[in-house]
Amino acid sequence: MSCPDGSCKEPGKRQRALIAFGLMMIIFIVLSGFSFLNSRGQVVPGDISFGSHMADEGKHVFQAYNCMGCHTMVGNGAYLAPDLTKEYKAAGPAWLAAFLPSAGTWPTEAAIKVQLLNNDDIAEDAGVDNIEDYYKKYPGAKERVQRRVGTTLMPNLPLSSEEVGQLIAYLKYTSAMNTEGWPPETKIPDLNKRLSLAHPVASAAAAGANQAQAAEPVDPIELGHQLATDNGCFACHATDNKKMTGPSWGKLYGSQVKLTTGSTVAADDAYLTESILQPNAKIVDGYQTGLMPAYDKLLSKDEVKAIVEYIHSLE
Ligand code: HEC
Ligand code: HEC
Repeated sequence: MSCPDGSCKEPGKRQRALIAFGLMMIIFIVLSGFSFLNSRGQVVPGDISFGSHMADEGKHVFQAYNCMGCHTMVGNGAYLAPDLTKEYKAAGPAWLAAFLPSAGTWPTEAAIKVQLLNNDDIAEDAGVDNIEDYYKKYPGAKERVQRRVGTTLMPNLPLSSEEVGQLIAYLKYTSAMNTEGWPPETKIPDLNKRLSLAHPVASAAAAGANQAQAAEPVDPIELGHQLATDNGCFACHATDNKKMTGPSWGKLYGSQVKLTTGSTVAADDAYLTESILQPNAKIVDGYQTGLMPAYDKLLSKDEVKAIVEYIHSLE
């Protein structure tokens, strides 16, 4: 190749570009190698178990029941219900084993003792076999027994004992995770309002403030959607035709609903209102009784009306 004036610079540039590219490839490959090393000491779900249950199985249960429709987990999920990332560390396996199968009510001290005495997995996992030592190890359990309330917004989910064990393994895993400081100190606006939803009796005083807010003119459909979100309805109900823990709301309004008794009922305002306030009065065919929490003490008449209007808008 002849080389007239100046044109020989071109191959030189190309060479430098190739050398730079080659260097970057080497850096890329070396760093990719590092990402496979367990150098940050992070735990993985495959390493954590509770009895014979694995944390990764529990993760599937957690997803299948859509717990994040109400709860936060490592920064994701909803804010209706408490963050569960460090729940195991706080309350321990015995409290969880007593709570999860009948979550509508809080466990008593007796219920925790029963778990410690009768479940070898638990005594072994906790490393203690009496309630005093258990409280020392998991102070959150004592605190929960003391702040025990009657019923809660946490639904009684139909968890098998297998699934309860798997969920405990999963919560044990999230407690062991290095979350780099998550969850932070909570400074949630409206925290009192949210707590009052979960503990209606304890905070009747907060109700006055909520009423005042409702006085502002707002689009009832939008308000209904917001209320349904705030109250965890979407943990169990889809707005399209998907079947979740509860029936879907898509095309529900005005339809004929088949009940477990074999009869049908028209999905009008009265029926929907009753379904929200006293869900067990009529059970939809194919669904279980006792699953949906009764919202009669949580929602005002106007709030229920707004939710019904929202469901109507999905017709
Ligand atoms: C419909 C909303 C909803 C769904 C779905 C839900 N929870 Fe809850 N859960 C709540 C509420 C509300 C509370 C707080 C109860 C209270 O403080 O009275 C709660 C409390 C809890 C607690 C105790 C928290 C504490 O304060 O110590 C645990 C543990 C828990 N839930 C686990 C689960 C798991 C696991 C699932 C899924 C299998 C789940 N929840 C699904 C609403 C929900
Ligand atoms: C823990 C799960 C769960 C939560 C949370 C829940 N529901 Fe339900 N819901 C169900 C189940 C299960 C049924 C079917 C059994 C029955 O008829 O009570 C149902 C039935 C209904 C029905 C009747 C549906 C039909 O097809 O006839 C309406 C309306 C309804 N729910 C509204 C609500 C509203 C509004 C909320 C929130 C304020 C809510 N639900 C929260 C589980 C839930």
